[in-house]
Amino acid sequence: MSPTPSLEPDMPPPSDPPGGTRTPQVSYRQARPLAGAVFEVGGLSVFYGDHEAVRDVNLSIGHRQITAMIGPSGCGKSTVLRCFNRMNDLIPHARVAGKIHYHSEDLYGREVDPIEVRRRIGMVFQKPNPFPKSIYDNIAYGPRVGGFKGNLDDLVEETLTHAALWDEVKDKLKTSALALSGGQQQRLCIARTIAVQPEVILMDEPCSALDPIATAKIEDLMEKLAEEFTIIVVTHNMQQAARVSHRTAFFTADVDDKGERHGRLIEYDETSRIFSNPSDNRTEDYISGRFG
Ligand SMILES: Nc1ncnc2c1ncn2[C@@H]1O[C@H](COP(=O)(O)OP(=O)(O)OP(=O)(O)O)[C@@H](O)[C@H]1O
Ligand SMILES: [Mg+2]
Repeated sequence: MSPTPSLEPDMPPPSDPPGGTRTPQVSYRQARPLAGAVFEVGGLSVFYGDHEAVRDVNLSIGHRQITAMIGPSGCGKSTVLRCFNRMNDLIPHARVAGKIHYHSEDLYGREVDPIEVRRRIGMVFQKPNPFPKSIYDNIAYGPRVGGFKGNLDDLVEETLTHAALWDEVKDKLKTSALALSGGQQQRLCIARTIAVQPEVILMDEPCSALDPIATAKIEDLMEKLAEEFTIIVVTHNMQQAARVSHRTAFFTADVDDKGERHGRLIEYDETSRIFSNPSDNRTEDYISGRFG
């Protein structure tokens, strides 16, 4: 794994953003070079049965960077996200073609264990989905299954602290996770994911069920976690993509002669560029709210 360069200071907001008022006034985070990328994706297509839902995606995912995937509904964001930890394997009629290399190794190679892949590349879903167990057991579950031999109490505390949840739950660790608020449940799910020490965290619209305050807490947490983890986040929230990510991938769906829709990656670049000076009109139309 390549050494991690230190974080660069945030870039100033662009002076002339497209789309007027809908473009968020934020300081964009400066992306690091993609050398030593965690994932290299080439010619990726995903089929559901005969339908090619996503066609010919090419991109690299930077180490300890936040990559946002944006685009209108049905353009294949979740489908692509699921390729990164082989979750599409669990959909019987799904087929993945093309290359996804994880640290230069074929993620879909025959010798690769998908269970180990999902431990190293964790996933957080749209709807918080804690286990119907205590807060403590939600965190302890993965490490126990993985044969963790250290002090579980310490691990639970460290993990919850890491996920900015410890102070809120330290007096009720044995109560049901389902009694937490939605935002707390989502932070618990993030904590549960990091408890098994993954390298990458995939997030599919992690804030779409949350109010703005809970959303802000998750965004703060993501920023903190990016010091240690590589994060790929699907979001419909343009401001969120602009605020938290270093790079942004914009997808949309083309309709072919037969009327079939195929998701495509239209543009992938540093977030500052995508939101201030995109090179494709479709990106500009989308981020400025003219379509999607
Ligand atoms: N399990 C599945 N079986 C069959 N087709 C699927 C399946 N999941 C997704 N698709 C199809 O693949 C295409 C892309 O869907 P996907 O869910 O990846 O889009 P998305 O960009 O995540 O959309 P949204 O923003 O609404 O979540 C759509 O045409 C969808 O109908
Ligand atoms: Mg989706």
